[in-house]
Amino acid sequence: MWPALTNALTPAGVNALVNAGHTLFVQKSAGEGSGFSDEQYVRAGAKIIDSADDVWAEGDMIVKVKEPIAPEYPRMRENQLLFTYLHLAPEFELTKQMMDRKVIGVAYETITDVHGKLPLLTPMSEVAGRMSVQVGATYLEKMNGGRGILLGGVPGVPAANVVIIGGGVVGTEAAKMAVGLGAKVTIIDRSLERLRQLDDIFLSKVQTLASSRYAIEEAISHADLVIGAVLVVGAAAPKLVTRDMLHLVPSGAVLVDVAVDQGGCFETTHATTHSNPTYFEEGVLHYCVANMPGAVPRTSTFALTNATLPYALDLANKGFERAIAEDRGLREGVNTFAGKCTYEAVAASQNIEYTPLDSLLDGSRSASAS
Ligand SMILES: NC(=O)c1ccc[n+]([C@@H]2O[C@H](COP(=O)([O-])OP(=O)(O)OC[C@H]3O[C@@H](n4cnc5c(N)ncnc54)[C@H](O)[C@@H]3O)[C@@H](O)[C@H]2O)c1
Repeated sequence: MWPALTNALTPAGVNALVNAGHTLFVQKSAGEGSGFSDEQYVRAGAKIIDSADDVWAEGDMIVKVKEPIAPEYPRMRENQLLFTYLHLAPEFELTKQMMDRKVIGVAYETITDVHGKLPLLTPMSEVAGRMSVQVGATYLEKMNGGRGILLGGVPGVPAANVVIIGGGVVGTEAAKMAVGLGAKVTIIDRSLERLRQLDDIFLSKVQTLASSRYAIEEAISHADLVIGAVLVVGAAAPKLVTRDMLHLVPSGAVLVDVAVDQGGCFETTHATTHSNPTYFEEGVLHYCVANMPGAVPRTSTFALTNATLPYALDLANKGFERAIAEDRGLREGVNTFAGKCTYEAVAASQNIEYTPLDSLLDGSRSASAS
């Protein structure tokens, strides 16, 4: 079993909170997977606590990476602020526990920035996008099941064809890596606006294509590596490469579906883990790991802390109500409060009552939201 190693805060992040006057408790060995020792956290000003039970008992605010699992439920207590990826929509029991225990649940994945984007999802998409080419190159090696092609070719030998479906954060980072390695890169997106931006970024180094079944069939029939990177916010990924299209893919080509966490954009995708990452469908190698950043926990912890720390500082310095009153995007992160579900999409997906956060807060404070 591959452990979830990514840690929630680097020693530098801990130090920033300590310097702001807060007391930081770090669970013993929590940073080991990311390469941070207990001594580094102590030097940064944290107190090391042996057991998870005690960390939860001490902390007014708990900063994590993944959502709580069943053994953690009894540790949650009233008015404790939980700041982490929650992904509550499919997690009825966790949502119920957080409501019953009146935990303040602020979910990384629903916080928005001034452009309406999701700033705490971006770092993980950057990591996964860059990794997708790295793993694709590895599985293209003959002994790993691929067709034995070097992405960049060599002088006198053509480079590999990399097709990226979806040109958002994942797709752009994948393209940077593939271009950097010398591959021939095609990016397919349904947004013409996005294709124009990609054309400006990469100039003639990538080919951009408007998304259609025809364009995808044509592109994958010459592909050595196909990367699935689409997202339709709030919906399952559309199945853009169907099972009956796989006979078009050259023998030994590799499919990497980064969009697997939204069900995948290949019909033949099913989620895999780092301990058993690949499988063959219709003779085509698929890599569909749902938690790709978990393979590079050190990079991922730095990337996550860079993005979460300003919010963690705001919450700790100002207190929950003032922090969310002054930052509408942070307020979007509040999924549970005072025993209610305060995020409409989560409530809708679980068929439970949705309570607008404003109706639960002191009117004067919520009215001042910017
Ligand atoms: N497996 C992992 O470890 C991992 C890690 C991070 C992100 N992800 C997932 O990767 C996916 C992409 O994330 P992102 O941050 O790049 O999203 P994004 O919103 O930045 O980009 C998605 C792109 O898909 C495009 N798109 C939507 N429908 C399309 C269609 N029919 N044809 C072509 N393009 C289409 C959009 O126009 C957009 O440009 C998401 O599902 C995300 O959850 C997975």
